[in-house]
Amino acid sequence: MPSKLNNCHNTKDFRSLAEKRIPSPIFHYLDGGADDETTLARNTDSFESCDLVPNVLKGVEEIDTSVSIMGQNINLPLFFSPTALQRLFHHQGENAIGKVADKIGTFFGISSLATVSIEEMAEKYTAPKMFQLYVHKDQGLNNSMIDKCIEHNFDALAVTVDTIVAGNRERDFYTGFTTPPKLTAGSMFSFATHPNWTLNYLLRQSFELPQLQDHVKEGTDIKVSIGDYFTSLIDQNMNWKTIDSISKRWGRHLCIKGIMSVEDAKQAVDIGASAIMVSNHGGRQLDGSRAPFDQLSEIVDAVGDKIDVICDGGIRRGTHVLKALSAGAKACSGGRMYLYALAAGGEQGVERAMTLMQDEIVRGMKLMGCQRIEDLGRHNLRYR
Ligand code: LAC
Repeated sequence: MPSKLNNCHNTKDFRSLAEKRIPSPIFHYLDGGADDETTLARNTDSFESCDLVPNVLKGVEEIDTSVSIMGQNINLPLFFSPTALQRLFHHQGENAIGKVADKIGTFFGISSLATVSIEEMAEKYTAPKMFQLYVHKDQGLNNSMIDKCIEHNFDALAVTVDTIVAGNRERDFYTGFTTPPKLTAGSMFSFATHPNWTLNYLLRQSFELPQLQDHVKEGTDIKVSIGDYFTSLIDQNMNWKTIDSISKRWGRHLCIKGIMSVEDAKQAVDIGASAIMVSNHGGRQLDGSRAPFDQLSEIVDAVGDKIDVICDGGIRRGTHVLKALSAGAKACSGGRMYLYALAAGGEQGVERAMTLMQDEIVRGMKLMGCQRIEDLGRHNLRYR
């Protein structure tokens, strides 16, 4: 069990350290999934359904891990999925991610429920940026977020389509997790026994959700569970016409986050999206749904030559990325893979986690006999 960052060598280690460092309602909000968490587990286990077949003697001293997605060249075929409420995990929040994305040269995303503003992130970081749009019932709020992203030159808009109602996250019921966090009789002990986290939370910059502040009090002035937030504020009537009008207003690279079927992937192509994130929201929504990696090949076969297909979810190792790329993904992304590290050690933790992933990808490519990402393909995968 690692007690400091230097002893963390993989995602599991960062997870263990995160569990020690942050109060349990916050840890379980991050770590947990919906219902029985079968999809959450499958997202990672799915990578074990096949094996890599290496080639040797390929002269691999020089490796190029760069890829191009949504019109941007990135140095690594792996990026930071947009995730919400990052300041709850560490006081540096989204700024830690922006800094590491700049250092590595990869995409990062911020959420509609980010704890920093679109303006601040645009001003401070040069790495390619995506904004994750939750489509609210309040059209004025949606438009204000899209317009700010245009004004501040975000590179892509990722519209999340898999959270029209909240997943049944039972760990949050047990712990009483709300945003902002609320002290309950049950959670008091956990906040008291994590004084570093609690003092940082209380004494540093106050918790805000800047994108929402002029429109929505829930989540900041009104403490609310994420479940109640989604169920009461997100537009459940959202459909392809909604996406079309968002796309027209936005007018730049559009990514649809949360596509799982071939039918929807084809619709995304028809609507002119640049990318889809094959994702089940980290197993936090529909338990029993397929894992992104299980669903990847059929989606790539249907639309892989027309749209950037991104495998989002379950990634814990560089070899998971290599398997997804071999199946035909253009790149991979993840949330928990860096959020555990953020909770474990802020920017330093995130840098360590992503550098380890980068090392694993480079080492894995060398051992696979691949100099470039294009060298990976179905020919080097065997299903068991
Ligand atoms: C979640 C949202 C906020 O899954 O992305 O909790």
